[in-house]
Amino acid sequence: MKKMVLHGGRALKGTISASGSKNATLPIMAATLLSDEPSTITGVPMVRDIRTFSELIKILGANAYLESNMLHIQPDTIKNFRAPYDLVKTMRASIYALGPLLAKYGRAEVSMPGGCAIGLRPIDLHLMAVKKLGAQIEMKHGYVIATAKKLRGARIVFPKASLGATVNTLLAASLAQGVTVIENASKEPEVTDLCNFLQAMGAVISGKGTGLLSITGSRKLNGVKNYKVIPDRIEAATLIAAAVITKGSVTVENIRADQMSLFFEKLREAGVSFEIIKGGAVKIGPRRVRLKGTDIATEPYPGFPTDIQAQWMAMMTLASGDTIIKENIWENRFMHVLELARMGAQIKIDGNTAIVTGVKKLSGASVMASDLRASAALILAGLAAAGETQIRRIYHLDRGYENLDTKLSAIGADIRLENEDSV
Ligand code: UD1
Repeated sequence: MKKMVLHGGRALKGTISASGSKNATLPIMAATLLSDEPSTITGVPMVRDIRTFSELIKILGANAYLESNMLHIQPDTIKNFRAPYDLVKTMRASIYALGPLLAKYGRAEVSMPGGCAIGLRPIDLHLMAVKKLGAQIEMKHGYVIATAKKLRGARIVFPKASLGATVNTLLAASLAQGVTVIENASKEPEVTDLCNFLQAMGAVISGKGTGLLSITGSRKLNGVKNYKVIPDRIEAATLIAAAVITKGSVTVENIRADQMSLFFEKLREAGVSFEIIKGGAVKIGPRRVRLKGTDIATEPYPGFPTDIQAQWMAMMTLASGDTIIKENIWENRFMHVLELARMGAQIKIDGNTAIVTGVKKLSGASVMASDLRASAALILAGLAAAGETQIRRIYHLDRGYENLDTKLSAIGADIRLENEDSV
């Protein structure tokens, strides 16, 4: 097992590029299963979640092959309809197999995801939607067993905007008979990217980017060649935060600033100076003044992303005054708090609210990563802290960040991976 070792206090300098979005690629991978024709997706981040979904596609009997940020999927040999527990427990996006298998083959068996470190991960809204489209659902031995002769379009009203449930409904509705309307759909850019991909497959969708989506089911969908996924806004924000927390001057390329508006607004409020460069880049710093404590509350898009909450908290540990951070999406997403406290941060938790009282400096310590974005937050703190920080269980990071250590060291970070037992 690896641990990450950092020596903090160096201002990062240079140019760095964000990778393609993991969270956009996973639904698109599921969409490819709606066709018999092959698809290729480019700009795909080489991260573990993408490999895990490729494994799932292979278990289903089809083929997926990832090389040099390009993913080839040949879906026409599917003969299994079961997403097994071993895969679902490591990657909850496996639930995206439900919609396409059900719509195309009339049967899907997906292990119940259960809970995970950041909270319960319910799928009731996914099931409500496919039931409305005509599926029968049975729960057996920890699996959801969904069957349908032919899905039929329906009106689906979500009580809350769920990214995952919107994805599954879009996937299922694209091959259903007739029109499906989704009310209170998720507006996340990753959903819009999925809509763009489905349209390239021949699907008929209106209302992209809004909370009201309408899908007219097709009889058949085609494969798509060389579809480029959107940049990863969460990784981009993490790289920007690395520049900010180290008072560095860094240009981050391959970003979609229009999909990060609230994050940039909050950065401005915190006193960060930056320039958005046309064509998809942002130039940060250098910063001479202390960050100003700036409150956030996580909400569905266009609100502040839950996936940047931990990284924002890491920055705010060093800001002046108090910062109030409200986590409205996941009930247990403050596991980084105790680890940040080991580095000298002052944070109190009250239910879903964290109150961060900024300190002048952090000091390196041995800490433990608990999930993907918590890992990123600890790296950020380690980049700013005096002395050495060691982050154990750093394997969580590989789920969603492509070579983050190499990228950060290319702009001056003192960061490396070591074997846990090598010191
Ligand atoms: C959510 C985030 C996504 C993030 C991911 C991993 C939102 C809207 N979505 O996506 O940005 O990348 O976590 O951190 O911010 N829910 C139900 N029943 C369901 C499905 C969801 O009650 O069937 C609830 C969840 O408990 C949660 C909220 O709806 O409170 C949003 O969940 P959802 O968007 O579906 O989760 P993910 O797709 O995992």
